[in-house]
Amino acid sequence: MSETPAATPAAQTGQQPTARRGAAYDSVFLRAARNEPVPHTPVWFMRQAGRSLPEYNKVREGVPMLESCMRPELVKEITLQPVRRHKVDAAIFFSDIVVPLRAVGIDVDIKPGVGPVIADPVRTAADLQRLRPLEPDDVPYITEAVGLLVEELGATPLIGFAGAPFTLASYLVEGGPSKSYENTKAMMYGAPELWAELVDRLAVISAAFLQVQIEAGASAVQLFDSWAGALAPDEYRRSVLPASTKVFDAVAGYGVPRIHFGVNTGELLGLMGQAGADIVGVDWRVPLNVAADRVGPGKGLQGNLDPAVLYAPTRVVETKAREVLHAAQALGGSHHIFNLGHGVMPTMDPDALTRLVAFVHEASAR
Ligand code: CP3
Repeated sequence: MSETPAATPAAQTGQQPTARRGAAYDSVFLRAARNEPVPHTPVWFMRQAGRSLPEYNKVREGVPMLESCMRPELVKEITLQPVRRHKVDAAIFFSDIVVPLRAVGIDVDIKPGVGPVIADPVRTAADLQRLRPLEPDDVPYITEAVGLLVEELGATPLIGFAGAPFTLASYLVEGGPSKSYENTKAMMYGAPELWAELVDRLAVISAAFLQVQIEAGASAVQLFDSWAGALAPDEYRRSVLPASTKVFDAVAGYGVPRIHFGVNTGELLGLMGQAGADIVGVDWRVPLNVAADRVGPGKGLQGNLDPAVLYAPTRVVETKAREVLHAAQALGGSHHIFNLGHGVMPTMDPDALTRLVAFVHEASAR
């Protein structure tokens, strides 16, 4: 059994003390997340909804990305598409990490083929005032979409998510995607107090975004710190860990499994677990048996097939998937959720993903 997260008393937080025993409670995904026996390893894919699916491209035609996130019926349809097609063991809510920033008034857009772009980057103490806390009333469309989905999904769990403070800060400070994060790091190293306030405000926003999704019925959450791998462990510990911990603490009382993922975070896996995750997501660079040692006992792992393997012939995909399942046996129980080491890519063959789900179910049957 995994350790029960150190829950803040419900009286202090107003949260429900334990996970609601909804229709998905005994799903394979949630049982594995709790390290309970499962008939097979559960599998889902980061970015399973999206441009790899023709049915996605069809319903998104003419609708800008961020606008699509504000239409509950469309969000429901897009979230369900990969569940129907691939028979994955969990749905991930269709939204984006910058949606809560837009909801508090930040001028952010998602440019196709580029990513999030911020009109006025956040670089000074005065700029921080723009990052007010998120209220549930700022995102009624999230509450509505999650409600519609949970109803429709029944026994299939819905994973809610948010961006972690560092990854959000990197977009806000740089003004868009970056390779070297020079402005972000300049603030982190050169103005540590300003930085600490920035990531603290982002923690408040991300925590509220997760709470809205859990309150509406999401039965697990994932905190994406996609770009945290740019940092050395000591810097992560000093400048990022407190804020990410704040996010996880804020949702501990709900008792839903909390997953924490970033790319290139081999050196940070232990710290990312310490932030409060029940399950640590691993990219393809570190085998799961090695990751298990780094993360330590009591925590599960998620991952970690190299997404590019999906471009190779089926027998190679199967060999590599089997290696992932084999390495996960080091966990000694059911505490593994199969995933890619990062997201599905737009040019991937969706049939290869469908075959992979069936293969993982079969090869891990017990
Ligand atoms: O299936 C899912 O995973 C559902 C939803 C989802 C999206 N973004 C939808 C999306 C999730 C969980 C995210 C998280 C997200 N957004 C992250 C963390 C995950 C990761 O991949 O590391 C990050 C870093 C972002 C920021 C962002 N938004 C990027 C880098 C991009 C891609 C830009 C591009 O065009 O290549 C986006 C846009 C985005 N978010 C798309 C989707 C499906 C593609 C845009 C589109 O379909 O129009």
